[in-house]
Amino acid sequence: MSSATNPIIEQLLAHRSIRQFKDKTLTNHQIHELIEAAQHASTSTFSQQYSIISVTDQRILSEFAEITGHPWLLKSGHYFVMIADQYRNLQIARKANADPFVLHTTDKFLAAVFDASIATENVMVAAESMGLGATIMGSILNDSKRVIDLLGLPELTFPLLGIAIGYPADQPELKPRLPQEEVHFVNQYQLPSDKTQLTQYDQVLSDYYRSRGSNNRVETFSHHIVSELGIGHHVRADLLSNIKSQGFLISQAED
Ligand SMILES: Cc1cc2nc3c(=O)[nH]c(=O)nc-3n(C[C@H](O)[C@H](O)[C@H](O)COP(=O)(O)O)c2cc1C
Repeated sequence: MSSATNPIIEQLLAHRSIRQFKDKTLTNHQIHELIEAAQHASTSTFSQQYSIISVTDQRILSEFAEITGHPWLLKSGHYFVMIADQYRNLQIARKANADPFVLHTTDKFLAAVFDASIATENVMVAAESMGLGATIMGSILNDSKRVIDLLGLPELTFPLLGIAIGYPADQPELKPRLPQEEVHFVNQYQLPSDKTQLTQYDQVLSDYYRSRGSNNRVETFSHHIVSELGIGHHVRADLLSNIKSQGFLISQAED
């Protein structure tokens, strides 16, 4: 079943990350609309606990290219960084002489991560609706401390994702997703009883990787997942301590 019932679903089903861009920057109007779209995403407890930084300084962008290992971001038409942000609400709490403890908890860190992530997808969908393309970049976390310093992030903020946006210079093949039976269960988690689904998907993905236009290779989904495990234990090992250094994940006393 893949026939979309309306243009929005059709666009969602046609999503692909774009990593090659035409030499054209976004207009201020486009940037404004993308931020507006992000801001109208659902937000946990209506706390709007994220911020978005447009990075336009070429020196900072070059550092991001280095951190992410994605020099092609320099060719994008605009670059956003999505920030988990309880700092703004901390200021409100301080002004009201309210105890800000809750803003430091794991719960509120997660709420900020949810908010920023959902806003990120709104930016992606809005960009695609404008004929633009984008790639979300978790790889800014390869050096979260450097990102914190580069962007001057205060306490109770944490960088989560970059988004490189621009006019697509290529149209990559759609990446096939898992069969629905693998990701959608009813009432109870479905333990794997039948391996044929995944085996079939391995074949589908292997055909995709073999025949796609660029960077084609021999690869199955299972092999991809296993190779992801080989990145090494040291990669992003500082993440937890950097999140804590920003003031998050304070443990709550049980009462
Ligand atoms: C949280 C998150 C982090 C990602 N980080 C990166 C990244 O650092 N570099 C990159 O090239 N793509 C990144 N991607 C894009 C994924 O690789 C891409 O969505 C996935 O391979 C599926 O391909 P598609 O988006 O073209 O369908 C990220 C996506 C998400 C949701």
